[in-house]
Amino acid sequence: MLFDSHAHLEDERFDDDRDELIRGLPGRGVTHVVNVGSTLDTSRMSVDLAAMYPGIYAAVGIHPHEVSQMTYDDLNRIEDLAGNPKVAAIGEIGLDYYDLSPRELQRQWFSEQIELACRLKLPVIIHNRDAHADVLDILKSKKDKILGGIMHCYSGSWEMAKNFLDLGFYISLGGPVTFKNARKPVEVAKNVPLDRLLIETDSPYLAPVPYRGKRNDPGLVRLVAEKIAEIRGMDFDRIAKITSANTKRIFGIDS
Ligand code: NI
Repeated sequence: MLFDSHAHLEDERFDDDRDELIRGLPGRGVTHVVNVGSTLDTSRMSVDLAAMYPGIYAAVGIHPHEVSQMTYDDLNRIEDLAGNPKVAAIGEIGLDYYDLSPRELQRQWFSEQIELACRLKLPVIIHNRDAHADVLDILKSKKDKILGGIMHCYSGSWEMAKNFLDLGFYISLGGPVTFKNARKPVEVAKNVPLDRLLIETDSPYLAPVPYRGKRNDPGLVRLVAEKIAEIRGMDFDRIAKITSANTKRIFGIDS
């Protein structure tokens, strides 16, 4: 049994086969998925999907690309959605220094959404691109009240990963660990303590080899687990079991 800790099944690329795909996941060994919002709309869709399927859980939040026009009213809507019992986290939130939104606003709304997660006693799912130092600073400034969280599709170095592990965070690896030129994710896969490791697809993005460039889906999280098992010289079943237990622990899921 596998747990995909991060997918976007509300994406329009699943419009033609979403129901069939989701119903087929247990048959492909994937029993649980957290569907992650990036806007108000996709957060709402995540909650709706979670309500429809027992193995799907939701995260709600506004992605750093989307914060240019964000308001406190939007933050209240996120809080309303987070009241749903199948909402497992606030996310994805963070910083993305490809700069589709002004950095100052990114930092402001990242902080506000962490504060919300702290108030609601939910973990956070962090998106971080080229912003390690600022992400770390902001998380450190809140470390006494934060419930913990996940560095999603972690792409940084093992050195930097240690800083997030020190804060109690989990590291989630996805398709890039299977890429031919992968160096940093392989080093992280080798070293991260087993009780802090999660796996994900980030579907429909970042499909693992040999599907690189095609549409990704949560069934392919198996290839991520297989690759990590190979890197660590461990049984696939053990990686599947441990990452699934870790994901349930951080999200407070007991079924
Ligand atoms: Ni994502």
